[in-house]
Amino acid sequence: MSLVQLKHITRVYKSGSLAVEALRGIDLEISEGNFVSIMGASGSGKSTLMNILGCLDKPTSGNYNLAGEDVSTFDKNRLAKIRNRMLGFVFQSFHLLPRTSALENVELPLLYNDDNLSWKEIHKRAREALEIVSLGDRTDHNPNELSGGQQQRVAIARALVSKPKILLADEPTGNLDSRTTLEIVELFQRLNQDGLTIIMVTHEPEIARFSNRIITLRDGLMSSDKSIEPLNARQALKNWKDQEKIQLESEVLS
Ligand SMILES: Nc1ncnc2c1ncn2[C@@H]1O[C@H](COP(=O)(O)OP(=O)(O)O)[C@@H](O)[C@H]1O
Ligand SMILES: [Mg+2]
Repeated sequence: MSLVQLKHITRVYKSGSLAVEALRGIDLEISEGNFVSIMGASGSGKSTLMNILGCLDKPTSGNYNLAGEDVSTFDKNRLAKIRNRMLGFVFQSFHLLPRTSALENVELPLLYNDDNLSWKEIHKRAREALEIVSLGDRTDHNPNELSGGQQQRVAIARALVSKPKILLADEPTGNLDSRTTLEIVELFQRLNQDGLTIIMVTHEPEIARFSNRIITLRDGLMSSDKSIEPLNARQALKNWKDQEKIQLESEVLS
């Protein structure tokens, strides 16, 4: 059975007499270990779909089966529980707490989790998550002391600290330059190789090429769904660095 199974999902936003059909019937299955990109023009329903996949919002109609449970019938409490247990979130604008260290930002989800972890265990797990994103040496830095790419990596560590099955990322590289974008995508590929299922919204086709499946939305419907052989982000990053080096050398020589 697929990890994610959506059956004819719709989402209608109502405000007064106005109704917006943001999703008009999405059928989608995602297996464990997939790295999926969701593309589509602005307003096509990508964020609405991510919110439903992330159990942050409920469909107007249709069924959502997540790891064998029909979450479309769940109330808010049960949705929050499955969210904490199964899902990690990354956003375009990082959403880190200011004036709070990287370590404390990453610890936060564990304070709200049901496992009743000891402080020692919480520190340990947050530290490990920061090491996974190569920020083991930045645990005491506040967000304003970190670059955009580093802040996003703290946000990814925060998403990973509760050991989710699925990472949901809505335009995670939207605020980053090309080099930093490649670093984040390289991290995603590494996490995916270790078994994490990733669903990422991006409007950049070049970024989608690093996932292994590209889904395109159009006016609230799925207009295409393609499996691809992903590009290797580590290689792309290496090429980028080599190019930079050549450029630097030629500037020094001239
Ligand atoms: N909370 C909301 N209330 C009313 N309409 C909404 C709301 N959120 C999104 N929409 C509308 O639903 C459609 C899909 O939006 P969204 O899922 O945000 O698209 P995307 O992320 O692809 O840009 C758009 O027409 C948008 O205006
Ligand atoms: Mg959006």
